[in-house]
Amino acid sequence: MSLKNKVVIITGAARGIGRSVALELARLKSKLVLVDIDLKELKEVNIQVKNKGGEVISIKGDVTKEKEVKKIIRKTKKEFGNIDVLINNAASLLQKPIEEIQEKEWNSIIQTKINGIYNFVKNTAEDMKSERNGKIINLASIAGIVGLKNSSAHAAVNGGIINLTRQLATELSPYKINVNTVSPGVIATSMTEDLLSNKEIKEELISNIPLGRIGTPEEVADAVIFLASKDSDFITGHNLVVDGGWLTH
Ligand SMILES: NC(=O)c1ccc[n+]([C@@H]2O[C@H](COP(=O)([O-])OP(=O)(O)OC[C@H]3O[C@@H](n4cnc5c(N)ncnc54)[C@H](O)[C@@H]3O)[C@@H](O)[C@H]2O)c1
Repeated sequence: MSLKNKVVIITGAARGIGRSVALELARLKSKLVLVDIDLKELKEVNIQVKNKGGEVISIKGDVTKEKEVKKIIRKTKKEFGNIDVLINNAASLLQKPIEEIQEKEWNSIIQTKINGIYNFVKNTAEDMKSERNGKIINLASIAGIVGLKNSSAHAAVNGGIINLTRQLATELSPYKINVNTVSPGVIATSMTEDLLSNKEIKEELISNIPLGRIGTPEEVADAVIFLASKDSDFITGHNLVVDGGWLTH
């Protein structure tokens, strides 16, 4: 997949999809910078990457805080040089009817994804532009395209990401920087663990998925890695949906 020695930053790498991307990229011999607020879980991933022979640094950091993001970028450049790939993946789940959502909860969902992307793209764009090289992949969701139960914050934030990605693709294309979105459907990760432990909810969700099952984080990682690789050099501003067919009906 031509990702050997590429320097890749992955946010939200301690669990789920971010972790799967990290492990697959370790196999492909990329140089990894793993970022998460959960240092304990992140250290576990760091060990697993090293066991695969991967070069990696893991940094505790909150994507919503620009000061911390600037530090992460400085550390990355000191350790590995220029950044080739940025994967904006960090997020958390909030499923409530809109009238029950507290202001703090709403802001946290918006800030983690939208401000997280803003902070990382803002602080890597200049270097990527001068190198005429870069791949940026933003994780969104099918909630950014269709209505789902109790998902207003996710609709707002993921619809925003899909559109922000198109804008960034337009803005950065002249500098040979590709910007794309991956939108998962329902995937078995720590984010959905509680939800999927309820048999009735799980069956109801599966009834919306033509392929008849919940997706795996590895299946989303494959899509992310395709968009990070040379194989997708002529693709930008795209939203790659990985949902087992949910959006077909
Ligand atoms: N799992 C699904 O069904 C699903 C569906 C649609 C979209 N997605 C999207 O895929 C991406 C990955 O989701 P996942 O299922 O792997 O989630 P997950 O909860 O398993 O992992 C998310 C990681 O992000 C980290 N994180 C949260 N806030 C952070 C912050 N402020 N700074 C740094 N790290 C932070 C968490 O600690 C966690 O390790 C997210 O963007 C999510 O919205 C997931």
